[in-house]
Amino acid sequence: MSHQRLPQQPRPAPPQQPRPAPPRRSQPPGTHRPLHLAAHFPGVNSTTVWSDPRSGSQIAFDSFVHLARTAERGLFDFFFLAEGLRLREHKGRIHDLDVVGRPESLAVLNAVAAVTERLGLAATVNSTFNEPYELARRLASLDHLSDGRAAWNVVTSSDAFTGENFRRGGYLDRAERYTRAAEFVATARELWDSWSPDGTPRPFAHHGRHFSIEGEFTLPRSPQGHPVVIQAGDSAEGRDFAASTADVIFTRHGTLAAGQEFYADVKGRLPGYGRTADDLKIMPGVTVVVGDTDAEAQEKATEIRRLQVSPQNALLAAEQVWGTDLSGFDPDGPLPAFDPVVDSDVVQGRVRQGDPRALAEKWRGLARAKNLSLRETAIEATGRQSFIGSAATVAEAMSHFVDSRAADGFILVPHLTPGGLDEFVDQVVPLLQERGAFRTAYTGPTLRDHLGLSHPATRQTPKDAAA
Ligand SMILES: Cc1cc2nc3c(=O)[nH]c(=O)nc-3n(C[C@H](O)[C@H](O)[C@H](O)COP(=O)(O)O)c2cc1C
Repeated sequence: MSHQRLPQQPRPAPPQQPRPAPPRRSQPPGTHRPLHLAAHFPGVNSTTVWSDPRSGSQIAFDSFVHLARTAERGLFDFFFLAEGLRLREHKGRIHDLDVVGRPESLAVLNAVAAVTERLGLAATVNSTFNEPYELARRLASLDHLSDGRAAWNVVTSSDAFTGENFRRGGYLDRAERYTRAAEFVATARELWDSWSPDGTPRPFAHHGRHFSIEGEFTLPRSPQGHPVVIQAGDSAEGRDFAASTADVIFTRHGTLAAGQEFYADVKGRLPGYGRTADDLKIMPGVTVVVGDTDAEAQEKATEIRRLQVSPQNALLAAEQVWGTDLSGFDPDGPLPAFDPVVDSDVVQGRVRQGDPRALAEKWRGLARAKNLSLRETAIEATGRQSFIGSAATVAEAMSHFVDSRAADGFILVPHLTPGGLDEFVDQVVPLLQERGAFRTAYTGPTLRDHLGLSHPATRQTPKDAAA
């Protein structure tokens, strides 16, 4: 299958990029908090630079194999696949960036399990549009097939647009989505625990608000007992859900200050659920650009941002903020002077973050302060925190981030499929290892071992205990 490739664009003056983090005072090796690393297979978003001649296929198995094997060579904790259950639309047409397609995660991970040995395998699967018996079975199957490497990123979906692809239609409001998600995860865990410790099936019954199940589960307890549960949602409900039930939280809070605030907030919620700070690992999604020198990395990062935010993408990002057609605007000219349309249907399948008026004001403030064009503003406003610099600068900054309790590790989102992790693994991982901040070998076979999570105890019935 061929990709939508964005044409190369003429280049106006490069916008300012975030500067690489200044080198920190070095701590002696062995005094750093250990960090966790995961690899995100770049999805259908503008992170991926399709115009790069090194870009491969988004859906060919070779691409998954290359990225997963690179992550395993780098001793990463897990390989992560996102999910989208409907192609997004922009102004009533399929969003270009979704045209590359995205295969179903568990199918891919079952195949990747066969070509890797230790790497954790994390599938994003929605709890609003699935059923616990079926999904628990698929996840337990992956855990068995991979000898204990399965993880489930529980997402709830936040738009009615996605719901239209499903029988129930529409969607559930946020509180109800999280009530369903909590019952879903609890039911899956009951199913995973339902066989007796000696390996015989036991009758199973769950009657709750959302699910009613009676029978037996089809599989004995899997190697991890419970596959690792990841959560990715940012509301108060999402954070409580993670604090009460998840093993890992995937976040977008990637700057040091925002990371520390999020970290303190989420870890502070754990004792309320009888859990300790170590029971939940916080892993922001970040991008990394490595160069021979800091200056070269900075140049590369600027180039990558310009390829990610082409003139068309800049207009598209501005249309998402302003909620209206801006096709008459010059991407190299100023931002719209008018206020955004609040109840807009320009974007379908992507949640509008916060109040569009406040967001538009933020964009205008950025443009004024730095004298930026519309495209340059989009480049600045849509960029995620990145670690940019020489391998030494990146290793130092990442380790400092974890030492400062802004995260327990990172989910790396490369801009190239499938070679986007090669440099990081070859150049940064050895430096993290030298600092004693990252493992030099896998210490156990399961993903729980990599993450330092305990294996859940088998649930005993009074009959088991008596036996
Ligand atoms: C970092 C991050 C990654 C996410 N990835 C996905 C995804 O791959 N697929 C999906 O359907 N939803 C994804 N979501 C959406 C969330 O699961 C959730 O539905 C959404 O954030 C709304 O919940 P909230 O109001 O608690 O934030 C992601 C959210 C975050 C914060």
